[in-house]
Amino acid sequence: MSRLIQLELRIREYNGPEELSDSDRYLLTMAKDASKNSHSPYSGLAVGAALMLDSGEIITANNRENAAFPSGICAEHAAIAYAGANYPGSAITDIAVCAHRNKDFTKEPVTPCGKCRQVMAEEEHKSGKRIRVIMFGESRIYIAEDIESLLPLQFKSLLPG
Ligand code: THU
Repeated sequence: MSRLIQLELRIREYNGPEELSDSDRYLLTMAKDASKNSHSPYSGLAVGAALMLDSGEIITANNRENAAFPSGICAEHAAIAYAGANYPGSAITDIAVCAHRNKDFTKEPVTPCGKCRQVMAEEEHKSGKRIRVIMFGESRIYIAEDIESLLPLQFKSLLPG
């Protein structure tokens, strides 16, 4: 007999930056700044990501597209790769992401793609610390308290245990 398993996505919705903590609002500002340097001539979507390390350091990055489309890299992935390469002893605690087209930030929150969620999950497993994700949209902001909340059934088969 089969049985239905229902999985939950847990996201908190905010009406705007004024409802966020000072540090979340600052991280979003950094993500917005980072989106200005996006290289996205093909999609026209300029994505910015800012991540906070447990040391208090903030790392920013943006999406880097390529004429050979699969060679492009997402903003979140670029920031996480930079952080891992340059701050190997630090854990990521928060990631803010936003995107604009022709200088207009998206109305709806930017929710990280599946590949980026799996990349974030790896960072959580590596550090043993939860990563909060702040997703900006002009009409609302979503915050997930950890990656399990964004990516249930993430690939874990190669993890110990
Ligand atoms: N993109 C990101 O940077 N992050 C995501 O989570 C999803 C999508 C980028 C990839 C591509 O440059 C553009 O947005 C359109 O897909």
